[in-house]
Amino acid sequence: MKPMSLRIKLTLAFLMIALLSLALVGLFANVFFGKQFEDYTVNRLNQTISDTVDQVTDLYVHSGGRWNMASLDGTGMSLLANGLILRVEDENGTVLWDAQVHNNGMCLLILENMAQNMQSFQSNFQGGYEEKSYPAIANGQMVGTISIGYYGPFYFSDTDLQFLSALNRLLLIAGAVSLAACVVLGAYLARRLAKPISDVIHAAGQIAAGDYGERLTANESTAELTALSDAVNSLADTLERQELLRKRLTADVAHELRTPLTTLQSTVEAMLDGIWAPNEAHLSSCREEILRLNKLVDELGALSRYESDALVLNCEPLDLHQLATQAVCNFESAARQKNVSLSCFGATAPVLADRDKIGQIIINLLHNGLKFTPAGGSIALETKNEADRAILFVRDSGCGIAAEDLPYIFERFYRADPSRSRETGGSGIGLAIALAIARAHGGDIRVSSVVGAGSEFMLSLPKGR
Ligand SMILES: Nc1ncnc2c1ncn2[C@@H]1O[C@H](COP(=O)(O)OP(=O)(O)O)[C@@H](O)[C@H]1O
Ligand SMILES: [Mg+2]
Repeated sequence: MKPMSLRIKLTLAFLMIALLSLALVGLFANVFFGKQFEDYTVNRLNQTISDTVDQVTDLYVHSGGRWNMASLDGTGMSLLANGLILRVEDENGTVLWDAQVHNNGMCLLILENMAQNMQSFQSNFQGGYEEKSYPAIANGQMVGTISIGYYGPFYFSDTDLQFLSALNRLLLIAGAVSLAACVVLGAYLARRLAKPISDVIHAAGQIAAGDYGERLTANESTAELTALSDAVNSLADTLERQELLRKRLTADVAHELRTPLTTLQSTVEAMLDGIWAPNEAHLSSCREEILRLNKLVDELGALSRYESDALVLNCEPLDLHQLATQAVCNFESAARQKNVSLSCFGATAPVLADRDKIGQIIINLLHNGLKFTPAGGSIALETKNEADRAILFVRDSGCGIAAEDLPYIFERFYRADPSRSRETGGSGIGLAIALAIARAHGGDIRVSSVVGAGSEFMLSLPKGR
């Protein structure tokens, strides 16, 4: 089945909710309000009947203690107009006034009308003629019997029915209006939601096709959509950067391989052509290039090992400070030769780590420091303890690293020096190896640098217990 669009789905959902609430409101209105109205009508009927009995008894009293036919006639007719059929008997049971005798046709018409009203209200309404009789008591004496007939158990007058049907019409109109509002609102909201999602789909498609230029502007009103466009944007950033690095890597590798190979080729050709004698000097220059290539291959092998998940670390409790002091000792003569001062200070910093590999990190950092620090400069190592990490700083007063190179110096083959001069040696793998080792230990290496002032590398390792 073809998946439904978000817009249609949301609109349908809104519609369903609207229909459901309408049905509920209709049901409640009819069941509860209907019952309420019924109770009200019954109470009103009882009240009217009791008022009528008082009223008729008053007629007797006001007429000076006797039944007056003319006033009975007036009251009886006005009651008939309200659907009540009056019969009055004197204390002996003689009928004085009876609506059914007075105007039987009208009585039947009224009962018929009430039956019709109730039928239209409820098609299976069970009702019929009912009559209630009350004694007429004046001055403590029974002076007659008042009987009132009506359509029972209760009835709705024409106005009641009009009220009920107006109410139903009102509910219907409100329902129709809210339905329309739901459809419009649902469609609008769905559009607002669907549009940014379509944009993300479009941008993701562009990114998949290799066009990383596209960036999404965040929809700031919906948190999830903002997060989605941010995620897609950062995905594009990462991919763009990776793409850039991949291209640069290829060029760097080609350069790194070409230099020794060209030297080898020209030396060997010169010897073959008899220009150069295959003497020790020339052959050892060839060997140097071969060694350089070999070292490069070894470093690459080591790097891929350090980055592999299967790397085995021979961890033991170590003091990072002691390790740094030892490395400083090993570099002392090289530093003295270059007239660079070398120092190590700070606290003991216990870690649980692989001695050789952490030693390798320190060597690589010291190597760089020495390489990029001119004569007269200094390199200082400092160890420090934090809550759950041991820290080693390697600070130099060297040439520093440009801000645009900083994010990349840990990439393999990346060298800030664009001429990749051989004097500064190295092939751009040292820092990549150092970072891979640190990460394998659950640690990290950060760098900050100011061009012309120096650099600071910060190695942090989880503390050993
Ligand atoms: N202490 C430092 N001072 C200045 N630049 C540095 C320093 N350490 C590293 N770099 C820069 O980072 C690049 C990568 O370093 P690295 O991976 O050790 O490669 P390599 O030493 O072989 O050039 C270096 O080429 C250099 O441009
Ligand atoms: Mg290096």
